[in-house]
Amino acid sequence: MKDRTRIAGKIHYVGVNDREKNLFEGLWSLPYGVSYNSYLIDDEKVALIDTVDVSCYEKYLKKIKDILGDRPIDYLIINHMEPDHSGSISLIKKEYPNITIVGNRLTFGMLEGFYGVSDQLQIVKDKDELNLGHHALRFYMTPMVHWPETMMTFDETEGVFFSGDGFGCYGALDGSFLDVRLNIDHFWGEMERYYSTIVGRYGMQVQNAFKKVGKLPIQTICSTHGPVWTGNNVKKVISVYDRLSKYEAEEGVVIAYGSMYGNTEDMAEIIAEELTLQGIKNVRMHNVSRSNASYIITDIFRYKGIIIGTPTYNNAIYPDVEAILSKIKNRLLKNRYFGCFGSFSWAGGAVKQITSFIEDVKLDVVANPVEVKHSLDNESAESCRILAREMADKLKSDRE
Ligand code: FEO
Repeated sequence: MKDRTRIAGKIHYVGVNDREKNLFEGLWSLPYGVSYNSYLIDDEKVALIDTVDVSCYEKYLKKIKDILGDRPIDYLIINHMEPDHSGSISLIKKEYPNITIVGNRLTFGMLEGFYGVSDQLQIVKDKDELNLGHHALRFYMTPMVHWPETMMTFDETEGVFFSGDGFGCYGALDGSFLDVRLNIDHFWGEMERYYSTIVGRYGMQVQNAFKKVGKLPIQTICSTHGPVWTGNNVKKVISVYDRLSKYEAEEGVVIAYGSMYGNTEDMAEIIAEELTLQGIKNVRMHNVSRSNASYIITDIFRYKGIIIGTPTYNNAIYPDVEAILSKIKNRLLKNRYFGCFGSFSWAGGAVKQITSFIEDVKLDVVANPVEVKHSLDNESAESCRILAREMADKLKSDRE
């Protein structure tokens, strides 16, 4: 049994899969489910690293007991307090009443606030050590990857890095927790989608964390979501997070639009066609009322051009378009080219509202907005093509 769950040394995987939840954080779709990863170090002193969503507690406890039998757990190390990882703390504490909870000052404020737990705590600071016998752990404070209390734990004995949400990805673990036992093809896309939706606002803080932990001799990455990463995948996972947190993007355009009767969509089609005629092959069109926002946000992190289309709806931006704009703003997106367009029936204004919205975000507006009354005619169709050409020219100027 122990060999099936072993990662390295005395470290075991005791996480669980959730294939029930439709939307992560009530927002982001989960076509492949999600895993909540927790790790058990079965050393002279026994340590549990993070817990799981409380809905999975029974399965989780069974996994722990399969390894430990009746032996107690000495330490619960909390790298991150978001309830998908902290949700089982109260039940674990009830099951193991002598357990010592290890965290930082901010962890313990949240621990009391969420669960009323305020006893048997061991506070740690940046670079403090905890020796379990064979395994020596060191703690690194990495605030805002993804919450302020976030810390990461490095097992110096085996080179195993417990990185919390850092390096995480969506997708349940179908059959194994270990990358080399899985077909991991779909996890790369799910990693970009996870980063863009969950960590995307905190690019600077991810870069700060890299400065702190980037030189550690990491052999294995144990995040709170997704596979355990080993071998060459360690470098690849780090490079995905490095690229995304620098807001680097490849050539391409995301056209995200709302449309009630098809007129704004007609404009989107013309813009997309002209982009491809100009040699821009990566064009991703999203009807915002249909695509889950996570896919739109992921494409926006991937490609350098963004074009937003909206009808005027009750004198305002179409609600689903506004929701996407607010998600762009919330992620402090930068290093992107921007354009917008739209249509109206009796009074316009939504396109102008988008323009003022974007002034706050400081994206690089590459063309005049296009706003059409009723439906497209030859002149307004040409305005759409000009918008597309100006976006394409800007993108192509980056090729050199
Ligand atoms: Fe998976 Fe920020 O929690």
